[in-house]
Formats: sequence, structure tokens, C-alpha cells
Amino acid sequence: MATATSTFQRAAALDDVRRLGSLVAHVSGHTLALFADGDDVRAVDNRCPHMGFPLHRGTLHDGILTCHWHHARFDVATGGTFDQWADDLDVFPVELRDGEVWVDLAPLGDPLAHRRARLHDGLERDLPLVIAKSVIGLVDGGADPVEPFRTGLEFGSRYRAGGFGQGLTMHACFANLLPALDPEDRAHALHHGLSAVAMDSAGMAPRFPVRPLPGGETDVAVLKRWFRQFVEVRDAEGAERCVVSAVRAGADDRQLADMLFAAATDHRYIRTGHVLDFTNKALESLDLVGWDCGLAEIVLASLATEYAEADRMEESNAWRHPVDVVAILEHAFEELAAVLSGHVRSSETSSETGMGPEEAVLLSDDPQATADSLVEALRDGAAEETVAAAVARAAAVRIARFHTSNEFGDWDTALHTFTFANAVHQGLRRSPSPELVRGVFDAAMSIYLDRFLNVPPARIPQPDGAGVDAEELLEGLSALLDRQQQVNEAGELVASYLAAGGEPRRLHAALGKALLREDRDFHTIQCVEAAYRQYELTGDRLFPIAAARYLAAHAPTVRAQGQTYHIARRLHRGERLYEDDAA
Ligand code: FES
Repeated sequence: MATATSTFQRAAALDDVRRLGSLVAHVSGHTLALFADGDDVRAVDNRCPHMGFPLHRGTLHDGILTCHWHHARFDVATGGTFDQWADDLDVFPVELRDGEVWVDLAPLGDPLAHRRARLHDGLERDLPLVIAKSVIGLVDGGADPVEPFRTGLEFGSRYRAGGFGQGLTMHACFANLLPALDPEDRAHALHHGLSAVAMDSAGMAPRFPVRPLPGGETDVAVLKRWFRQFVEVRDAEGAERCVVSAVRAGADDRQLADMLFAAATDHRYIRTGHVLDFTNKALESLDLVGWDCGLAEIVLASLATEYAEADRMEESNAWRHPVDVVAILEHAFEELAAVLSGHVRSSETSSETGMGPEEAVLLSDDPQATADSLVEALRDGAAEETVAAAVARAAAVRIARFHTSNEFGDWDTALHTFTFANAVHQGLRRSPSPELVRGVFDAAMSIYLDRFLNVPPARIPQPDGAGVDAEELLEGLSALLDRQQQVNEAGELVASYLAAGGEPRRLHAALGKALLREDRDFHTIQCVEAAYRQYELTGDRLFPIAAARYLAAHAPTVRAQGQTYHIARRLHRGERLYEDDAA
């Protein structure tokens, strides 16, 4: 018999269950579906774990319960599903007592452990709804958001034969945006990043990592030299062995960054900047999870393939004709060697005596003058980081002044330059080196090559903010981005909001929310994140203006990914999705 402390509750009369075959019972806040199963009675949560269809309307045959909405199948005795995109079903122990059905409603298992296991299922099988449910359950259950981020980082590094790619880069971008987002949007951002990793890894062979060199301690400077040699001859495995050996030898994040950035800038603007950007994101990912968590080796080694296979702009027509900008750069690098004499100046660690280059020169149509201005600024005592920041701003100008008469695909061209320039800037802040300074020059040449994207130049809005209600304006952002090609309007809105004294944190949260509504687009995510990072460093409103314009050019999308997330959110809240539910 049930006692005062028993978790068993009376649910129904046994005769009723046997006569009807199945019925719904409401017991202590639970809605149960009871099924007659031979001599037994089964009690299950009446909400299908996939999307909540009432399971009393399903079919039980030969011990397998089939839901009628998407036909997920469950072992009715254990709740285990045969369809991984659904989930295991909650089943409750039953006792038959004196013609009555009693059900044990004691809590079932550890919900966080279940969500962790399901996150792996979702990543392995590329199941965005499963990933969304897992992340929401983990974050709402009190897990540190870093935990699911780390799970995705390790998964993508281990199971994508091609190595660190777009998926992991998006994952890192969304994680970097977390502090800017409203708290209710953070699980959504993690969902986007994790789903990008799953999609990018789907159908790929796993990576089989290269072991480090035997024998323990190895000179990191030697490994750096060898790494560059192997990248030079496109030997991915040799390059990877150098990276993992450097990690095992105890190289710190600055040494590892230095090694990678040197090879990433031995050739010009490799893979339109993606390799250096991926590298920066890999390093930032390790900052987020902690360099001591054991992932550095596998994450950094996963970059080697990109390094070895990347195309080099020395080989491209655009960088050779009609102006040989590679020759301009090679000459500038010879001067640079004398100017820097093997040393670089960080704006944080040493006194800076010079200014950055003039923006007008960086945006001019004279690449020789641009290169000269960079060398001159460095010779005059400007910190490399300061020069890199000036170049990153000039790259953002190309987006802020991008005219919509260009071909749509040209947005990507301007975007590549900006995200590359941002990565170089962030890299120099982490690990300044004479080699990485070459990336500043590459970015400047790419800005020159993008010059016709600003012909005619779009006007950068300069409102005074008078008579504007900043909050009311910001509320209009969402509706504005429901319409196509509101590029200039979005830039105006952002400029007016800030000019009227609007809170930048709220602006970035609103831009992040608008980004999360859209289907994952690699470049838009990169743009919003790089602009946010630059704004954090400079407070310059040009960056959110550029980000808003880029986002507006790529919105609205179908928003299918957001729908998946909101289904998961509603299920988590216990809302009904199946409107005809009579249970
Ligand atoms: S299979 Fe049950 S709701 Fe989809």
C-alpha cells in the first residue's frame, strides 16, 4: 500500500485501461498515457518527446509505441526510442493493486546528464532540434554556457576531417557575442554555433590526429621554423606534427599564436584571409574554454590542413595585374625589417610615439602610397597594434560605404577584408611579431583592391540625434529587418540611435537578436562579431553602422533555424505544439 512518503499514486481503474486499451490520466501535475500491454499496464508521459504529440493517440503494437505525428517509435517498457531524432520517452513504474493502476512518479534520472548525452547525439547525427533541446535544458538547468561550447569545440576538432572550418568559426563567433546578448538569447546563440559545427561535420570522416615527436622537450623556435617549412611545401601532416609537438613541449598561447601567425602570413592573404581568421578564432576558443583544459593540441592541430591547402594571392591575377601589389609588399617588407629590427611595439607594454596612418591614404587608389604610409607610421613610432586598428577601421569603411548598386556577391569581398583585418588586429594584441605585421599590409592591399565597391560611395550617416527617442528607434530595428534591402535605413537607424545617446550595450543586444533570427550565414555572423569586437576596443560607431548595413543586406531569410529553436523553447516550457490536442 502507498504510505505517506511513497511516490506511488493511483492513476486509474485497471478495468478501464483494459476495456479502452489506452487512456489519459492526470496525476499530481503529470499527464500520463496508460496502455494495456498483455497482462501489464504501461504508463508514459503523454507528450511525445519529439514535439509533444499526445501519445494516447499513438499505436501500441508488439511492445512498440508509435507516435502518429512523425512516426517516432518507442519501446513502451523502457521508453527507449528507435529514432534518435526523437528522444527517449519518460516511462513510469506501474503496480497493479486490487484492480487499480498505481504509478511511481518519483523523479526520473539526472536531467543534466541526459541533456549532455543528447547534445552528443545531436552533434553526431546533425539534429538541430535535439541540439536546441539539449542546450536549452543545460543552460536553464544551471550549466555554465562554456560547457556546451567546449563540447562543440572538441567535437568539431575531432570529427571533421577537413579540420577547423566555417562551423567552428561560427561557433566561436557566437560564443564571443554571448556577453553582448540578452540573457534569454544566449542559449539560442549556442544553438546556432553548435548546429553549425554539426552541419559542417556531417558526412565527414573523423580526423586521425598525428602524434607529437617522441622524446619530450623540443625547442619551440625550431618547431616554428619547421612548421613554416612544411606549410611552404604544403605538407599538412608534417606541419601538424610540429603544432602538436609544440603544445606537448609546453609552448604557451603566445608562442603557439606566433608560430601559426608567422606561417599564415608567409604568403599573401591566403585563402582570402580565412586561414588567419580561423586561426584567430581557434585561439579565442581556447581562451574561452581555458588553455589548460586539454583541447589545445587537437584544436590547433586541426588548422594544419587549411594552412597547407590554402591558395596564395601571389598566384592570383588581381594581386599581380594591372598593379603588382605583391611586388609593392615585398619591397615594403624589406623596409619593415629595418624599421622593426626584429621587435614590435605593443600599445600596452611600451610607449608609443607615433600616430597611425591617415585613413584617406588607406582608402586611396594608390597602393604604393598606402604601403609607404604604413612603413612611415611604424618608423615614426606608432605601435603595430595601432596601425592594425587603423587598417581594420578602413576595412570597415568599405562596408559602411558599400553601395547597393554593386553585385550582391561583392558584399563578401568587402567582408573578407574586414574580418581578416580584425583577425590581424586581434592577433597583434595577443602575440605581436614582425611576421604578423605583414598581415596589416596584406589587409591594406585588399582594401585598395576593394576600392570600386565604394564607387559611388554610400553616405556614412552623421545625424545629430536631436529630437530622437533612442529606445523607440531601436524597437523599430526588428520590423526594419523584416523587409529586404533596408541597407541604408539600417545604417541610419544605428547612427541615429547612438547619436541620441542610446546605450551601446542595448544596440549590440538588438543586433545580436536580429542576427539570431536569421538562418546561419557564415559571413553575416563574421561581420557582426568582428564589428562588435572592434567597437569594444574603440567605441567607434562606424563598426555597428557597418554591421547593421551588412545584416540588412542579408535579411530576412526564411528563418527556418529560428523556428527549430523556438519549437525547442516551447517544448521546454511545456507548451503545446499540436493544437488539436484534446488531452
Ligand atoms: S514523432 Fe511524436 S511529435 Fe513527432
